[in-house]
Amino acid sequence: MEFSEVTFGSPDYEHTLSLRKRILRDPLRLEWSEEEKAWEARERHFVLREEGRVIGCVVARDLGENVFKLRQMAVEPKRQKAGLGRVLLERVEGLLIGEGVTGFELNARDLAVGFYEKLGYQRVGDEFVEVSIPHWKMEKVAGDRLVGGGQEMAR
Ligand SMILES: CC(C)(COP(=O)(O)OP(=O)(O)OC[C@H]1O[C@@H](n2cnc3c(N)ncnc32)[C@H](O)[C@@H]1OP(=O)(O)O)[C@@H](O)C(=O)NCCC(=O)NCCS
Repeated sequence: MEFSEVTFGSPDYEHTLSLRKRILRDPLRLEWSEEEKAWEARERHFVLREEGRVIGCVVARDLGENVFKLRQMAVEPKRQKAGLGRVLLERVEGLLIGEGVTGFELNARDLAVGFYEKLGYQRVGDEFVEVSIPHWKMEKVAGDRLVGGGQEMAR
């Protein structure tokens, strides 16, 4: 299994788009808006690959002041609940913390809140609707025991 950042517009980026479309958008019968597409060129894109194939991905947007927003996280359905989501998120967090990032936020689908809680995120505010389904805003401060890149990251 290989973790890496991929370039916007590269073949691997295109693979993340098809994974994200299949897992996150098709079930809701939604397409990306022009505004969402325009953001992608300015965001960072991370993948987990197995035998060359993209099996997990997540997008990270720089919100400034050392905070990143994580979005569009998806793991290949046949490989979910096997620890891959945890590996991907911890590697992304570790890499960004190494660059000086101190906080993360995301909008979690109701059904994924438990996953992010296991990774140390906390709900903030009230439930809201996004892409037609219930979501919660969640946040995490880079803390004492955040594991990244296989190493314990100290504050
Ligand atoms: C949500 C998702 C990214 C998690 O990835 P994953 O590889 O399945 O998660 P992991 O196996 O690494 O799980 C890590 C921990 O979270 C738990 N967990 C995973 N998904 C969960 C969920 N939906 N609800 C509650 N707990 C969950 C696991 O049981 C595991 O717990 P453990 O450490 O005690 O064993 C993945 O299931 C997915 O792509 N789901 C569909 C798309 C989606 O909802 N994306 C998120 C949009 S906000």
